[in-house]
Formats: sequence, structure tokens, C-alpha cells
Amino acid sequence: MTQNVLVVDFGAQYAQLIARRVREAHVYSEIVQSTISADEVRAKAPAAIILSGGPKSVYEVPAPSLDPAIYELGIPVLGICYGAQLMAQQLGGDVANTGVGEYGRTTLTRHGTSVLMDEWPQSVTCWMSHGDAIATAPDGFVVTGSSPEGPVAVMEDVARRLHAVQFHPEVAHTERGQDLLANFLHHVAGIPPTWTNTSIIEDQVAAIRAQVGTEKVLCALSGGVDSAVAAALVTKAVGKQLTCVFVDTGLMRKDEGEQIEETFTRQFGVELIHVKAQDRFFDALAGVIDPEEKRKIIGELFIREFETVARELGQGGDGPRFLVQGTLYPDVIESGSGHAANIKSHHNVGGLPEDLSFDLVEPLRNLFKDEVRHVGEELGLPAEIVWRQPFPGPGLGVRIVGEVTRERAEILRNADYVVVDEIKKAGLYRELWQSFAVLPAVRTVGVMGDGRTYAYPIIIRAVTSDDAMTADWARLPYDVIEKIANRLIREVDGVNRVALDVTSKPPGTIEWE
Ligand code: XMP
Repeated sequence: MTQNVLVVDFGAQYAQLIARRVREAHVYSEIVQSTISADEVRAKAPAAIILSGGPKSVYEVPAPSLDPAIYELGIPVLGICYGAQLMAQQLGGDVANTGVGEYGRTTLTRHGTSVLMDEWPQSVTCWMSHGDAIATAPDGFVVTGSSPEGPVAVMEDVARRLHAVQFHPEVAHTERGQDLLANFLHHVAGIPPTWTNTSIIEDQVAAIRAQVGTEKVLCALSGGVDSAVAAALVTKAVGKQLTCVFVDTGLMRKDEGEQIEETFTRQFGVELIHVKAQDRFFDALAGVIDPEEKRKIIGELFIREFETVARELGQGGDGPRFLVQGTLYPDVIESGSGHAANIKSHHNVGGLPEDLSFDLVEPLRNLFKDEVRHVGEELGLPAEIVWRQPFPGPGLGVRIVGEVTRERAEILRNADYVVVDEIKKAGLYRELWQSFAVLPAVRTVGVMGDGRTYAYPIIIRAVTSDDAMTADWARLPYDVIEKIANRLIREVDGVNRVALDVTSKPPGTIEWE
């Protein structure tokens, strides 16, 4: 049975990062709200608990707290930052509002022996972010680390298996941070590192088989990573019962349809219905220039195309009863600040037609994006699909400013291919959040050979980001920009000029529409 670690969320983004780091140590983790009771914890029977950091002070009213009976369950607990201060305060130590916090790089000095910091050098660099500091550790705790403004930077009660660190072991700037988490998980809590891609696949395959039995399953492939990995998992579980649908809107990237067909039909032997709906999309988009209206048309038409296939297959009876969705863990986590599920803000093409009553199969519901990619690789999906940058549901439609026509979509598709190809050749594809071409609604004059040209410019858009909420324009090397520009003008008919978008988000958005 998979052993579980609960990461208690005290706000901000820390809990997600901690949960990912735990999984990188090959231990399954789940995020829970700080209002969880000791009884609820007992029912989940976790092998360890980690208290996350958070933006508040333990002296704020109200400050998030923890049911103190949780410390008495005999389950190993690691408190981090706010979680460390809360543990100190609740167990009878002192937390001082010194007014002198520590933010950023700090030196941690180790004292005596510590199971968390076994064989570490005497001092290491760690990352701090705190205003208050633990002044006195509660009875039973030994102080094993300190920093210039944090006399109790690490405290441990080995007998009760309670440990706390003032710094952030989950951030990359903390030297040995991952080592500390691994020591806590493997050595303090005794959890073996068994959460691997292979175990994820085995668990999901068994769960899918148990859920769908001998019924048929339908899956919409979008060309993106999530739907492809979800489909590959379902294929492994119940291959012959699965039918995939790929709706070509005419707004996909170059060779996307062929690649889907090659992978799923020829490599995996799945039944794939390739709906070539380009004409219907271009007809519906003729003359439309308003960005929101375009999105709406594309989204609604997609659903109609999908519905047609589903109805032809005959839902229930002989047809599919289940629908595969590529929902990921960050979409379902309830955040500590009490919002309900964190639902994607964008209208997502590929969404579920509301009046079709399928039962959902969501094999990626417990996974983070990086886990999904690794599972995809292990399932044998090609790197081009697994490592693909995010692509909006309406596809090239939100990168064509003005009217979307077959000709303009073709220009942009070819331009996009050149941008991505050069970015890949420069080895930058995986480190950029997104890199693509945009087609504006103007034409400009140029000169080529002896002739005057009047054609479109292409805008290169490349951004770095962690979550698409904010983004910075990528500082592409000049020689990469030069290669892209030369090729765009030489190879893409209809293009005679290249510009670079140097707008961050905010104030810009990543896409142009
Ligand atoms: P913006 O342009 O708002 O984009 O900065 C943020 C992220 O969302 C993607 N995006 C979309 N995804 N349907 C989607 O499924 C959409 O209509 C849509 N618009 C933008 C965008 O590619 C970026 O990753």
C-alpha cells in the first residue's frame, strides 16, 4: 500500500512546492487544509505530516492554527517556517516578535548530532523568510541549528518524533534542502522511497480497470501533454475498450494531427477518430475579429463536433459510458486560504459537453505536471508530445489578431514551426514556459530581391514563467533571434518582417488575444 504524507497548508504557495519535493523523494504526498482535525488525520493514517510555511505571524488574529492533538498521534511531524513557529508555540516554547527578520540567503550553523542533517558540514546556506523567530524551544526539544537572527533555527524531539526548521528546505536556494526532506521521510518516518513512475502507472492501471470494468471509454485528444498521458494510461489499462477523438480545428500546430495519429493508432493500436473539421471552423470564424467571440465560437463548435462523434458511437448501451479527462492535482487542491477548488480560469476547449452524462475517468487527478511528463515518458509517448509547452485550447486562433482565415492560419502555423524549431535547436525549449509566433492584422512594406513586398510581420513571443499567472519576456540570445528572423522571412510565404515582443505579464498577457 502507498504510504501517504500529509502536507498541511498554511497559505501562500509553499504547500504545493513541499508536496512536489516530497514526491521527488519518491513518497506520495497530499495537501490538506490547516483546519483538519486529529480524528481526520487518524482516519487518513499518514506515515508523516509536514506543516508548511505561510504568510502570517502566529500572533496575528486570527492566525491559522492546528489541532494540538495531532502532535500526540505518534506520527512524525516536520514543521517548516510558520509551521515550525506554530509547533514551538503550541508545545510551550516562545516565539518572539523581534522586529528583525531574516529574508533570503542566511547561514545555518549546526550543533551536535541531528538525524535531519546527518553528515552535513558545520554551516550551510539556507533560505529564510520570517519576521518572528522561535526564541525558546519547548521542553523535550534539542536545538540542533541556529542562524544569525534565529537562535532556534532547527529543533528536534527525537523521542516524540517532532522536528522543526525555520528555513525553507523546499526551495532550490537552500543547500541540502532536498536532503533534509529525504532524511525526515526515510530516516525519521521510515517511509521507503516507493512512489515511482512505475508504481504510479501500476496503481492507475489497476484503478482504471476496477472503475470501467468491461465498459467502453471515450477520450478527446487535444495534442497536449495531459490528454495524451491520460489516454496512454487508459490504453495500458483497457486498450481495446478505448476510442479516442481528435478534432482538427485547423488551428493546431504543424504536424500535430499526424503525430497524434502516428502515436495512438500505429504505436498504441488505439481506435482513433480523426475529425477533420477545419472547413467548419474557418466558415464559423469568417469575418469575426473580436477575441472573445472567436474563443466562444471555437469552444462551442468543438463541443458540437465532439458531441456528434459521441452520439454516433451511441452513448450507454453499446457506446462509451466513460469519458477520460486530463485533470491534474493543482486543479483539484483546496487551498489553505479557503477558496474552493482552484479551477482553470480559461474557458478550456476540450471541456466536457454539459448535457452528455458520462462518468469521468481522471487518472492524473493526483499528479503534478512534472510527474505527468515522467509517466508519459515511461509509457513510451514521444518526447515531442511529453515535453510540449502549454498550448491554448483555441489554438492558433488566439494568436491570429483579426480575422482567422485558412491562409492566415497556414502562415502562422509555418511561422510557429520555425520559431519552435530554432528554440529547440538552441536547447531552450524546456526552460521557456512558452515560445511561439503571433500574426498581427497589419501588413507592412518591404523589399526583397528587386521587388517591393507588402506582407505580414511575425512577432516572436517567448516567456519564462512558473505558472502562467505572471511571466517575463525571455532574453533570447541575439544569434537565436537572428536565425529565427532569417528563416521566417526566407521560408514562410507571406512574411516580410519580424518583431520581438518584450512585454512581461502583467501588464501584457502571454497570448495576444
Ligand atoms: P494569458 O494569455 O492569459 O495566458 O497570459 C495564460 C496561459 O493560459 C493559456 N491560455 C489559454 N488556455 N484556453 C486555454 O485552454 C484559452 O482560451 C487560453 N488563453 C490563454 C496561455 O497559452 C498561457 O499558457
